[in-house]
Amino acid sequence: MAEGYPEAEAKPKAKKPRPLPPPPPPALATASLLVRGAAARVLGLSPGPCGGELQPIWVTEPGCSKITMSFEGTSREPFPKEDAHNALLIALEAETNRLAAGGRIAVFEMDKADAEKKYGEDIYEPKSQRPDRLRLAHLPGAALVEIPNNWSLCASTSDCGKIEFLAREVEAGSKKKPDTMIMAKKKQVFVKFSVGNPDAPAADIGGEMPSEDEAKALTDKSVRVEVLGVDVKDEAKEEPASKAAKSVTEEVKAEGEMVVDPWSVKGKIDYEKLIRDFGSTKISDDLLERIRKITVGSGRVSDLHCWLRRNIFFSHRELDAICALQEKGKPFYLYTGRGPSSAAMHLGHLLPFMFTQWLQKAFDVPLVIQMTDDEKFLWKGEYDPEKGDNLHVYKRFTIENAKDIIACGFDKKKTFIFSDLEYVGHMYPNIVRVWKAITYNTARGAFGFVGESNIGQSAFPAVQAVPSFPSSFNVPFKGDQHLPCLIPCAIDQDPYFRVTRDIAHKLVPKDHPLKGKPSLIHCKFFPPLTGAEGKMAASDENSAIFLTDTPEDIEKKITKYAFSGGRQTAKEQREKGADLDADVSYQWLRFFLDDDAELQKIEEQYGSGQGEDYWSAGQVKKKLIEVLKQMVKKHQEIRASITDEEVAEWMKVRELDF
Ligand code: TRP
Repeated sequence: MAEGYPEAEAKPKAKKPRPLPPPPPPALATASLLVRGAAARVLGLSPGPCGGELQPIWVTEPGCSKITMSFEGTSREPFPKEDAHNALLIALEAETNRLAAGGRIAVFEMDKADAEKKYGEDIYEPKSQRPDRLRLAHLPGAALVEIPNNWSLCASTSDCGKIEFLAREVEAGSKKKPDTMIMAKKKQVFVKFSVGNPDAPAADIGGEMPSEDEAKALTDKSVRVEVLGVDVKDEAKEEPASKAAKSVTEEVKAEGEMVVDPWSVKGKIDYEKLIRDFGSTKISDDLLERIRKITVGSGRVSDLHCWLRRNIFFSHRELDAICALQEKGKPFYLYTGRGPSSAAMHLGHLLPFMFTQWLQKAFDVPLVIQMTDDEKFLWKGEYDPEKGDNLHVYKRFTIENAKDIIACGFDKKKTFIFSDLEYVGHMYPNIVRVWKAITYNTARGAFGFVGESNIGQSAFPAVQAVPSFPSSFNVPFKGDQHLPCLIPCAIDQDPYFRVTRDIAHKLVPKDHPLKGKPSLIHCKFFPPLTGAEGKMAASDENSAIFLTDTPEDIEKKITKYAFSGGRQTAKEQREKGADLDADVSYQWLRFFLDDDAELQKIEEQYGSGQGEDYWSAGQVKKKLIEVLKQMVKKHQEIRASITDEEVAEWMKVRELDF
């Protein structure tokens, strides 16, 4: 089709007046004004000129046209994704038809200078080459725009009949784009539409010019139609700074739906969908075998970690490339981190570190651990007029959390833990590079920053990005600029590293084996005690087991709060078995019971309600209590022996041993 319609591209430079393209049939020309008028109201776009971006597909598809609109300068931002796009398109279509119901059109000419003075610049595209006299169309309540000289319109907006937005069916996996869509990245809206009455006659329209006030109302992009559930801007208006940077998706999702971003994890998580949405790759059985050969094959570990065996670490980016390097005997380093938001860590916080400890042992590689005390202050810090702010509190949390992390059993000679507040100078050149490489549009798209976000929040992603580059650790890595990086993390951290990967080549020498891109291995969330949705939160005491909990606390919390997938009565349980997906005790055992045979027994017996050892919820809870008591006790013993001085040694800028 005529996608490359030359007039649409021949924009400002040409000196000569451009030849006019064939005019659209009056019904389509009229409809295009309506769509633009509606877009101004629903999407907050400038109505702009109507000629240049209307594609003449009526030549092959009678009654149809396609219009491309730019949302440069839109008042509705940030633009949401997917479902919300649809909601906006539906609203746009409805508004188009609402405007179409019976308005009379006026077409008149004016001297450019006069028109500009009276109606402002929004009536035409500022860059377009303007004739001295403008031909303007006025649709009351919808639009006042310049139209090409050779266009004819219908006398009434209703003449063109019902306007329908057309969406080409696009097969899954196809590279084709649907015809009607909002492309936030390219900042465009494409609408393919048809009119109900393609043969509506043209009218030789005269008519009244709008008053200045009427025209102003039309070009005022802040006059917007409410679209239920997608009025992003308005919702964000009164946000306190701590909450301001939340994801675009979050704002448009209904209760109970999945939300995953660095600030919130909610709803029932569909991990397959996350892989699709994020564009990461599922860890395949082949890849697991490859990892097994390298790690178990070396004799450093006896088996793959059970979180790999059980798909708890389930997704990756270029982990295969790290394997390929390992197979050639080439080293890499691990990078992970923690936002020290409180002194008390819970089990969920420890997962990435327990796994990272295994990775370090299995691959025998150096590791850097970032403590983002800066991040937590920027998002959660407080200012008190009497006492000042509480930045120092996050510095203290760093030390306390570092003790819990160290207790996971890392190799001290190969591990460097650092606080952003202290180490930032070493990373600063790279931070500046990342700042320069990432536009604010990209950052807003990935992190949902809004006007109320503080400027530190906007700057922070660079701080989390730079430990992905070996030159941020010149001392620990002895100047090695080529060491590739693998990041184990929960999947909600992926947005940071997606953005990092896009600009990574700018921060490493040309012959870096992965062009600077960090590899990633993602884990699922650890479910809260109170239900297998979302993730465990420190803010809800009963939803979490803390590393400081006593054996009695553990027993009480699990007995009382662990959400059970077992049935109401013993009889029903025997008959139907438990709902294992919903049963938190079973889900937690998948994390912490290393013994596959025992876990399988629980699965079979509890899941079916048959069997002796584990047929009931009570028995499964008992098992979990036993496992956790032991684990937490061991952790507490090790942690008790870690002093502030010991932490200082791990955090000293020094050469690592590798
Ligand atoms: N932002 C993370 C948090 O809030 C901390 C973090 C920093 C991190 N760098 C990381 C987590 C790298 C995983 C990997 O906890």
